[in-house]
Amino acid sequence: MGRYLDHYRRAQSDPEGFWAEQAAAIEWMEEPQAVLSQDDNGAWRWFAGGKLNTCALALDRHVQAGRGDATALIYDSPATGVVEHFTYSQLLERVARVAGGLADLGVEAGDRVIIYLPMVPEAAIAMLACARIGAVHSVVFGGFAAPELAARIDDATPKVILSASCGIEFANVIAYKPLLDDAIAQARHKVAHSVVLQRPQCEAEMLASRDLDWLEWEAASAPVAACPVDAWDPLYILYTSGTTGKPKGVVRDNGGHAVAMAYTMSAIYDCGAGDVYWAASDVGWVVGHSYIVYGPLIAGCATVLYEGKPVRTPDAGAFWRVIAQHEVKTFFVAPTAFRAIRKEDPNAELLAGYDISCLQNLFVAGERLDPPTFHWLSNILSVPVIDHWWQTETGWSICANMPGLEALPIKAGSPTLPVPGFDLRILDDDGCELGPGEEGAVVLKEPLPPGTLPTVWGDHERYRDTYFSRYPGYYLTGDGGYRDDDGYVYIMGRIDDVINVAGHRLSTGQMEEVVAGHAAIAECAVIGVSDAEKGQVPLALLVLKDGVNTDEDQLRGELVTLVRTQIGPFANFKRAYVVARLPKTRSGKILRGILRKMIDGEPYTVPSTIDDPLIVDEIRDAMAAGQ
Ligand code: COA
Ligand code: AMP
Repeated sequence: MGRYLDHYRRAQSDPEGFWAEQAAAIEWMEEPQAVLSQDDNGAWRWFAGGKLNTCALALDRHVQAGRGDATALIYDSPATGVVEHFTYSQLLERVARVAGGLADLGVEAGDRVIIYLPMVPEAAIAMLACARIGAVHSVVFGGFAAPELAARIDDATPKVILSASCGIEFANVIAYKPLLDDAIAQARHKVAHSVVLQRPQCEAEMLASRDLDWLEWEAASAPVAACPVDAWDPLYILYTSGTTGKPKGVVRDNGGHAVAMAYTMSAIYDCGAGDVYWAASDVGWVVGHSYIVYGPLIAGCATVLYEGKPVRTPDAGAFWRVIAQHEVKTFFVAPTAFRAIRKEDPNAELLAGYDISCLQNLFVAGERLDPPTFHWLSNILSVPVIDHWWQTETGWSICANMPGLEALPIKAGSPTLPVPGFDLRILDDDGCELGPGEEGAVVLKEPLPPGTLPTVWGDHERYRDTYFSRYPGYYLTGDGGYRDDDGYVYIMGRIDDVINVAGHRLSTGQMEEVVAGHAAIAECAVIGVSDAEKGQVPLALLVLKDGVNTDEDQLRGELVTLVRTQIGPFANFKRAYVVARLPKTRSGKILRGILRKMIDGEPYTVPSTIDDPLIVDEIRDAMAAGQ
């Protein structure tokens, strides 16, 4: 453990020296005056006084260094049959024009812009264009329904929304524009302009007073230069699910983020200029922000933007085809994608048709890499299969094996060791540190390293309450886990009401709010239960209002539609059962943990505090009858 331990120890003992060294890897327009300090809210902040531009780091810098003809972005879209390469110069030209177009619409540094786009190059172009003029982007995942988009419009109060006429899911064309129109109509905050990319698969109807045609707008705009922004200025807001229905706007700053991206691209992913990097995620998630757009471009790599699926676009060999065709060196994806591939091609026969000798490392994250999927991958591939653990809030991995420093032994089920900068502890309910093998809350001692969230957009109190009130001085990750005798970390799942469905983070509390909105429901509990393919799926237990006599199948159908149209189809809400009562403690808390264990077939003990011990058996019977 030479290089890894060296970095880890230096980041612990001399964080300012360590991160000053990493900050030298990026170009500052003005050097920071301090490496680590605290802002007016008392939050730890990095690189005070430094000025930079994240878009310039991602594009201009490489063009100026003579790499303008190198490939920056490869758009590979089995959904539309298109493969398109953009050089750094070409990408810069488009980004600078779109930035100019935004400025023409009155967008200034600090203004917010919402991006609601499918996986098309314009998504990356839009993000970089905002960064270029110091505007703060907030990308909303295309799978979200109109009310979720409306909630983000109201919270971020954007001047402009950038969107498209449609997205494509397998062979289905999903019209985005009606969702956009609906969201704008629902939102209290009124948006002056929306710019819509018309895609040939579905032409959107435009509203003359508000909507602009993207390509015409871009063509009519003049390119603008990158402006200096403060290291602490926000680069983006990315909303993520918490325990309540109201999404949290995780803020990412420019300076710490750029340094973290540069460091992790080399130290974790072992990638630099000219390498091809592919994160098969979506720009709507943090992985898409960090490692489809910013990280690879800051590092001078060619990044692959894939508008397709692991299967059925056209088959379960899609990933192997993309790796071989574009000579991908590092591949990053969620385990759920491999579970989908394995289901269709259990012996990986389609792999034989492709030469993927270019691949050096496979990284997975987004959910726990279950040992069966790890072993399947390790058997079919001859490269390290690296699980790494992170969250929207941190923006980069908290625990990882770091082949860019040194490849450490891999243990199935573990994302290895904390990445330099993260001081990880496992605490019990009383805040006492637990020893090897003892499971507890996984927390990170303050200060967190550069690039991690400094606040929640517009609600610093929520930031303090959510993350720092449970164990003062420690950031609460919301995950439970333990360390083994070698210090390897094992993340066992959330300790709050967040669930992970096919690598997508969702709040059961939010689903409960939607389900409880149905006229027949008196009370409900939504819990995440195991699913062989998606990892977890939501399941609702419903208590009907007195006197309601409804057909259970019909009610289920209505609730499914409600969750799809209020939250989005990707919630995979399909299971709901009517029960007589919910198990609660005498103080009224629903025993969700017991319900989950019971449904997953895990051992559970009915606590003495339960108000009626027989209720769990009754629920089991009701579910068996409803199956
Ligand atoms: N826009 C619109 N709808 C979307 C969507 C999007 N961007 N993403 C998903 N949906 C819809 C799907 O079309 C599907 O709709 P349906 O119920 O009408 O069929 C529904 O949401 C469920 O989607 P999903 O759970 O994603 O299942 P899937 O069968 O469409 O795809 C996988 C399965 C494994 C391919 C997909 O879940 C996946 O790639 N997951 C990885 C997620 C990820 O990258 N996370 C980031 C962490 S690294
Ligand atoms: P998100 O913020 O959407 O990236 O989701 C973060 C959550 O996903 C984490 O808090 C974990 O619960 C889960 N997660 C992400 N990566 C991993 C991993 N490698 N192992 C276990 N859980 C993970």
